[in-house]
Amino acid sequence: MTKLYVQLREDHRNLVKVLDVLERQIALYDTREEEGTEKPDIALILDVMDYIQHYPDRFHHPLEEASFDYLIDNKLGDTAAMDAIRAEHQELEQSASKVRTLLNAINLGEAVPLDTLHKTLDQFHTQQIDHLKREEKTVFEDIKALDNAASSVILDRVEHRQDPLFTTVANQQFEELIRQL
Ligand SMILES: [Fe+2]
Ligand SMILES: [Fe+2]
Repeated sequence: MTKLYVQLREDHRNLVKVLDVLERQIALYDTREEEGTEKPDIALILDVMDYIQHYPDRFHHPLEEASFDYLIDNKLGDTAAMDAIRAEHQELEQSASKVRTLLNAINLGEAVPLDTLHKTLDQFHTQQIDHLKREEKTVFEDIKALDNAASSVILDRVEHRQDPLFTTVANQQFEELIRQL
């Protein structure tokens, strides 16, 4: 397996762990009225959003798109599938900022119906998971077929970012989120 493919797979595995934290928080909205139950943690949900907007949106997606550029330049891969994934990247970023706006409003004391928040988070979670699955079933197969030389060329084309959660250097901002992974 090439360094590129290993990286992309690892990013997916890590993102699934973060999305699991989000899913557990979303589930707490169903039981929030019951006495003695844990309440959703907005600060933790904001950390999940920070992570998604900082790492997958800024490094993982560009790396995938650099792979698509390479495949297209070399007349490889399924163009329609790659176009669809690129469009999803834009939609995911728009959804993330919509979620973020809603969370910020809540943090500033605005009255947002909990059902609205619940539904928005739920849709965002599903959209993320569906995207990962679709990539693994389609474009990942073509990226997997690339050789080491192609992998190096593609990795050189993107600006590298350290994953702030899955690293040996502790990141203070994400302390609580890291604890929950
Ligand atoms: Fe993607
Ligand atoms: Fe991906």
